[in-house]
Amino acid sequence: MKPRTIVITGASRGIGKELVHQLAEYSGHRILALSRNVDRMETEFEDLENVSCHAFDLSRDDVKEQTEKILSTVKTVDILINNAGYLVNKPFSEITHNDFITSYKINVTGVMETVQGALPKMNDAHIVNISSVGGYQGSVKFPGLTAYSTSKAALCSFTELFAEEFKESDIAMNCLCLGAAQTEMLEAAFPGYQAPVSAAEMAEFIADFSLNAKKWMRGKIIPVSLSTP
Ligand SMILES: NC(=O)c1ccc[n+]([C@@H]2O[C@H](COP(=O)([O-])OP(=O)(O)OC[C@H]3O[C@@H](n4cnc5c(N)ncnc54)[C@H](OP(=O)(O)O)[C@@H]3O)[C@@H](O)[C@H]2O)c1
Repeated sequence: MKPRTIVITGASRGIGKELVHQLAEYSGHRILALSRNVDRMETEFEDLENVSCHAFDLSRDDVKEQTEKILSTVKTVDILINNAGYLVNKPFSEITHNDFITSYKINVTGVMETVQGALPKMNDAHIVNISSVGGYQGSVKFPGLTAYSTSKAALCSFTELFAEEFKESDIAMNCLCLGAAQTEMLEAAFPGYQAPVSAAEMAEFIADFSLNAKKWMRGKIIPVSLSTP
């Protein structure tokens, strides 16, 4: 396998944590694991020599600068998986200004600024945005998820716009709209619901897609779900 430098946001738990474990299995890959909770990541990945853990907060105003600083330790980035996400589950009338701003910062503008910070390190790269079926046009929608699902829809739109602007380059961006996988976030969105897919199973698909799909597609928005939600 070709050794790659892979950046994964939201690596402290859920799908991101599983992605780190699976992609680190090939020792040729170098994995940069990003989230706010460095202690948790360092404990989780302490046996993995090809993983480094970095503090990263998408809710701050300096996401581009944080990204540049973290990536100053590497020559190139081959794969960026924008996996971190934030979910508010509240009736529409009760969603606060801060809920809207935080959702859009973490799920949209923070992702765009992460990409801006990573671009100088990218020549031949695949960027994979992790959206949700809730943000996929025409999908079944659920009450309480307005702030979250509209922000995930914006992430889909960003994917198409980026692909157009970078179509002459060797930097591809695609977007996966995930269905339910058993994580803390799913429990917050659908309390008590048992997903048919584990975080590890979902990570298996995303890892394979991140490594291989650049050859086949760019600017694509792909639903990854057999269930509702
Ligand atoms: N699970 C599902 O059923 C499902 C369905 C559709 C889409 N998705 C999407 O899949 C992705 C992973 O979800 P998950 O279910 O694994 O979620 P999760 O278990 O809640 O994990 C979310 C991750 O995002 C990180 N994060 C949250 N706020 C952050 C911030 N301000 N700055 C940096 N990192 C932050 C968290 O790390 P820290 O708290 O340590 O910072 C954590 O590692 C998300 O984008 C989610 O929207 C999940």
